[in-house]
Order: sequence, then C-alpha cells, then structure tokens
Amino acid sequence: MKRARIISTGHYVPERVVTNDEMTRIVPTSDEWIRERTGIQQRHFVDQEIGASDLGYEAAQIALQRAGLKPADIDFIVFATLSPDYMFPGSGCVMQQRLGIPGIGALDVRTQCTGFVYGLSVANAFIQAGQYKRILLVGAEIHSTGLEFNERGRHIAVLFGDGAGAVILEASENGRGVLSTHLHADGRYAKELWAENPGSRRIPRLYPGILEDGSCFPQMNGREVFKHAVTKFPEVIMEALQTNHLALDDVKLVIPHQANLRISEAVTQRLGIPPEKVFNNIQRYGNTTAASIPIALDEALEQGKIHDGDLVILASFGSGFTWASAAIRW
Ligand code: ACO
Repeated sequence: MKRARIISTGHYVPERVVTNDEMTRIVPTSDEWIRERTGIQQRHFVDQEIGASDLGYEAAQIALQRAGLKPADIDFIVFATLSPDYMFPGSGCVMQQRLGIPGIGALDVRTQCTGFVYGLSVANAFIQAGQYKRILLVGAEIHSTGLEFNERGRHIAVLFGDGAGAVILEASENGRGVLSTHLHADGRYAKELWAENPGSRRIPRLYPGILEDGSCFPQMNGREVFKHAVTKFPEVIMEALQTNHLALDDVKLVIPHQANLRISEAVTQRLGIPPEKVFNNIQRYGNTTAASIPIALDEALEQGKIHDGDLVILASFGSGFTWASAAIRW
C-alpha cells in the first residue's frame, strides 16, 4: 500500500528570545504566573518586518538540505498558518516565490492549531492518489505582531511564540509512513478561541474602533479550551490507535500540539502513559500553533527519540474547535 513518508524535517525560530522576565516589562504579568499555568519559560519573537512565509522558507531550506534536495524537486506545497503574511494571497504562494519554483500548486490550510495535521492528511491523500510525488508541508506562525500587550490581552499574549517547522513527504510502499489521519471540527465552539475582525461579515470590514474594542486580537475562553482539549486529545489519540489495531504500549512517542504544558500533562495522565513518551518543548517556544508539531518533531528527531520502525502519534486540538491525529510508522 502506498503511503506518504516523512523523509526530512527542519525548523526555524527567529533569533530574539523573550523570557518571562522580559515579558513582565511589556505586559503586567509575572514569571511565576506564566510558568505555573502554562509551563512556558521563554518564546521567540521576530524583530523585523517579515512574514510567516519567511520563517517557513528557512525551515523548508533546512529540510531540503538535509534531504539533499533542491526546491525544484518539490511538486506541491501545503502551508499551514493562522497568521498569513497577507489577507490574501496565501503564504504558500509567497513562500513558493522565495523558493523559486513557480508553477507548482500551493495550498494554505487554515485550521489553526490542527493545521499541520490537517495538512499532513491532505498531503498523504495526494501522494496515495498518485497525484504528487514529493510534497513540502510547512507550519509557520508569527503571533507576536498580533497580540495585545496590555492587561486585557495578557492571558493570551504570554502564551504564544513565533516559529516554523517543515517536512518533506514522499511516497513509500514498504509499510512505513502515515498509517492514518483523523480530522474533526465542531464549529459550535468557533467563538471560544477566535479573532473576530477584520472579517467579511462586517460592513465596513475596517472601522476606526477596531484597536480600542480589541476585536482584532485573539479572544479565548481559557477554561472552555482547557476542558475540551483534555477530552479531545486522548479521544483522537485512541482513535488513531484503534483504527490501526494498536495499543498505547506500541507507541514510541506522542507529539502533541504544544498548547500548554498543563494540558499536555493532563492528557498524559488521562492516557496513563509514562511522561517520557510525550514530547514537550513549549517551555522554550511558547505555543506556536500550526508550527508547534513540526518544530517538536524535528527536535525529537535531533534528540534521537525516534528511530526507524517506531510508532509516532501526532495529536492536536485548537480553535474551531478542531482536533486531529495521525499515526506514523517511522
Ligand atoms: N499574568 C498575570 N495575571 C494574569 C495574566 C497574566 N498573564 N492573565 C490573567 N491574569 C489574571 C486575571 O486577571 C485573573 O485575575 P483575578 O483573579 O484577579 O480576576 C487571574 O489571573 C485568573 O485569570 P483567568 O483568565 O481566569 O486565568 P485562568 O486561571 O483561567 O488561566 C489560562 C488562564 C492559563 C489561559 C487557562 O485558562 C488555561 O490554561 N486555559 C487553556 C487554554 C490554553 O492554554 N490555550 C492555549 C492556546 S489554544 C490552543 O493551542 C489549543
């Protein structure tokens, strides 16, 4: 059976590190508050006017170099982000231009924290169908330019960071690769984690009070997000295992979307798996949304936590609400 296999990975974060102590100089908060509730110790913020596509480009270059490939060897791009360079066109098109590979398809995926897993599912389906041979899948975010650094926005501003991760997928017929993907959404909860404006529903789309009323910044009902996340993460992880007639004991590593360390710990506990089977790096990057899984995957590989033949589960939950997982035989 033909499946998509990840043949190379890369990640890139902007140089500027913003520690919790530095955060206290931009928003009324404390290192203790942030660490206790989220586990985050620092994050990276851009310090110049660049876009998500630029971070994605750097991560893609690393993945290409490691694979010994040139951009021209790629025949399709999937770009997952909730912080695109522009309202339109998509960041996949912008990154394609920088890579210098005009003509190939470039698809943006807008499912927020689950963007990478949704993108993986799309890439896997294209490869299984034989439509494309080698796909570049990127998750990239620049949150720092869209957060509200004041008392009203502080519960969200401290959570997020900038960064990008990239993977290259190729067809494999030896049993290794993506075994299955599982995608879910429930739009009844759309307003529990969202940025309302600017949006097409409003006439006119832009209006003078948009900064003052805060509707252009992310809004989050943190407790509702927490409650659903700790239920949906285990559910969608078990769905991936059951579909493949596998058990938790078969899993080498779970790589969850880095939403919040407390969410990851609660999920680990609910599943009853040893903490060393769940990869976390939110402490150093904050929540990088669509980029968090590919950054974590790349680091897990760099740290030698995944070997050929291992079973890896990717799982995510986020705005939408959306939740998703993928089972991968490495
Ligand atoms: N620093 C200091 N104090 C703060 C901060 C801050 N950054 N933010 C809020 N506070 C204060 C509030 O003003 C409030 O003070 P009060 O009690 O005097 O009114 C107090 O802390 C509690 O505020 P809450 O917003 O109720 O904080 P809560 O305890 O619910 O924690 C948090 C907020 C950490 C976001 C929590 O709800 C949570 O973990 N939610 C899960 C959501 C999440 O992690 N999302 C990640 C992004 S989404 C995703 O990736 C899926």
